[in-house]
Amino acid sequence: MQTLIFAHRGASGKAPENTMAAFKLAVDHGADGIELDVQMSNDGHLVVIHDETIDRTTDGTGWVCELSLEQLRSVRAGHRSKIYKREKIPLLSEVLELLQPTKMELNIELKNNLIPYEGLEEKLINLISKYGMEKRTVISSFNHNSIAKLSIICPEIEKAILYEMGIFEPWEYAKKVGAQSIHPHFHNSSRSIVDRMHKEGMSVRPWTVNTDTEFMEMLEMDVDAVITNYPLKMKRILENY
Ligand code: G3P
Ligand code: CA
Repeated sequence: MQTLIFAHRGASGKAPENTMAAFKLAVDHGADGIELDVQMSNDGHLVVIHDETIDRTTDGTGWVCELSLEQLRSVRAGHRSKIYKREKIPLLSEVLELLQPTKMELNIELKNNLIPYEGLEEKLINLISKYGMEKRTVISSFNHNSIAKLSIICPEIEKAILYEMGIFEPWEYAKKVGAQSIHPHFHNSSRSIVDRMHKEGMSVRPWTVNTDTEFMEMLEMDVDAVITNYPLKMKRILENY
């Protein structure tokens, strides 16, 4: 199977991370999938933003969980760029709408390891079902309790455990949690792990693979997908591989 290219926070090497501009660019660059981060507003809307606060990526300030959708939508998420200065924090539904007519896959990372957003998993499943994206979505999280919950309430959607440091026999651990795949930091991927995962019918998608050398190493390991800020560059390398 050919290694797929997932655009990390969209084509975030070329446009502001987690904005519709970065997601549209990923589509235009021929990415096979998009990875994005989800948090929840204080009035229960699923929004696409990496941090728990809006301070780093927007011209506003405050905690996502303490701001309403209206407040979150009033700030600019591309304010450091002339071209992208009008970008807003997207709703997850906007990205689902963008990808629904395509054949692209979607990796939704739940950013619920610091803030235990009440009802987040249920809202997410409803939204994925509304757009009929169950078979093209993988839900990942560093919060493995949330993955375990999802494995009970939505067995039909693929789940992945995210981790940075190594995990002993990750295929066994993932199965116990109820995940079908692992998303390790690329430093913690190896040919033997990938082979064993494949033997178990499970997938490996390392992150964040940004240099040519890192990408070549991942191709040699035969990983299922790489999560990268530079989907266009990786597509070009793949064409000549
Ligand atoms: O999903 C892979 C990767 O995005 C996890 O780390 O911090 O970029 O969300 P982070
Ligand atoms: Ca992420």
